[in-house]
Amino acid sequence: MRIQRFLLTTNPGIEDIVEQEVTERVEAKVQKAFMNLQGRVLVEIEEDRYPELLKLRSVYYVIRYLGEFEVSTSEKGLEMIYEGVRHMDIPELQGAQSFRVTATRIGVHSYTSIDIQKAAGQALVDRYHKRVDLKGYEIEIIVDVIGKRCWIGVNLTRDSLHKRFERPFQHIAAIKPPLAYAMLRLADLRPGHVLLDPMCGGGTIPIEAAQVYGSLIKIFASDNNSRALEGAMKNAEAAGLKDIIRFLLLDARNIDKAFQRVDRIVTNPPFGVRIGEWETLKPLYASFLEAASRVLPEGGLLVIITLRATSFRDLVFKNRRFTIAHERVVEAGGLYPHIFVLQRI
Ligand SMILES: C[S@@+](CC[C@H](N)C(=O)[O-])C[C@H]1O[C@@H](n2cnc3c(N)ncnc32)[C@H](O)[C@@H]1O
Repeated sequence: MRIQRFLLTTNPGIEDIVEQEVTERVEAKVQKAFMNLQGRVLVEIEEDRYPELLKLRSVYYVIRYLGEFEVSTSEKGLEMIYEGVRHMDIPELQGAQSFRVTATRIGVHSYTSIDIQKAAGQALVDRYHKRVDLKGYEIEIIVDVIGKRCWIGVNLTRDSLHKRFERPFQHIAAIKPPLAYAMLRLADLRPGHVLLDPMCGGGTIPIEAAQVYGSLIKIFASDNNSRALEGAMKNAEAAGLKDIIRFLLLDARNIDKAFQRVDRIVTNPPFGVRIGEWETLKPLYASFLEAASRVLPEGGLLVIITLRATSFRDLVFKNRRFTIAHERVVEAGGLYPHIFVLQRI
């Protein structure tokens, strides 16, 4: 059986989750930082197992790796890209009518990514005689120049895999489903558990949970903003999960008034990106931690993503009812929030 390489893109900081998810599905050799870049995971699997990669929840794009070569950072690099791409065998292009090249460039070069796209595109036109179509393309060829290396791939995912269903409601501060998936994995959910997202916004976390665990667990989602809650319900309905998630209009500071016991809380409170905003959010975080400590049993877990790691850590120590079982930094939309896993003592 032929072994093939595939590049998977994800949020920097959750590569280990990608590795876990991949190796649960297929036998794979995994390199967590392709070309030393975070958020890019290279896997080697048996060629015909690749449809399994398209089911992954922790990744955005799946790219079939074709090969790489050395390039100069001076203008001569463009000729080397032309030659390198021209000599690359790309079976996908044989039967296609049109293609596009998408290039990313990292480092200092005497050419731009548009120049790379043009040089690589010309090489493919000359070799395969196919039409370039930037919008209606059939095949997308990836040509990335990272320092002095150029690697080529075929994107197998036209739409990012995180667009698992059409969301009628877009929450302004929604997290991406792969991050929600990573948080849920860190929550170590077991059959029969009660899960709550008390600041659910558009419902990304509970919807992801419902898609992964179905009725193995009981899922509750709440928010104190009725517009967000209605939106979350619409999104759940669009995903065909309305009956699996129970929605409540509730202030996160009062979850102990609505729930007696919750095994896991997984949530994404407001980040407080704007200057001064954290001062008003800090009391919310503190009161929420209080309420969470009253509904979680000993050993219960709270998984939370926050931008204010230092200040949040202080709140956890002041609260005294949790230990920090795990903490990591992730990258999300140019921000670097921390995911904390707190365990109720
Ligand atoms: C960052 S958003 C959550 C986004 C969500 N994870 C998603 O992907 O759509 C934070 C949510 O917390 C809610 N929120 C803020 N203060 C709250 C409170 N005191 N009680 C409950 N929800 C609150 C906001 O209404 C907002 O929907």
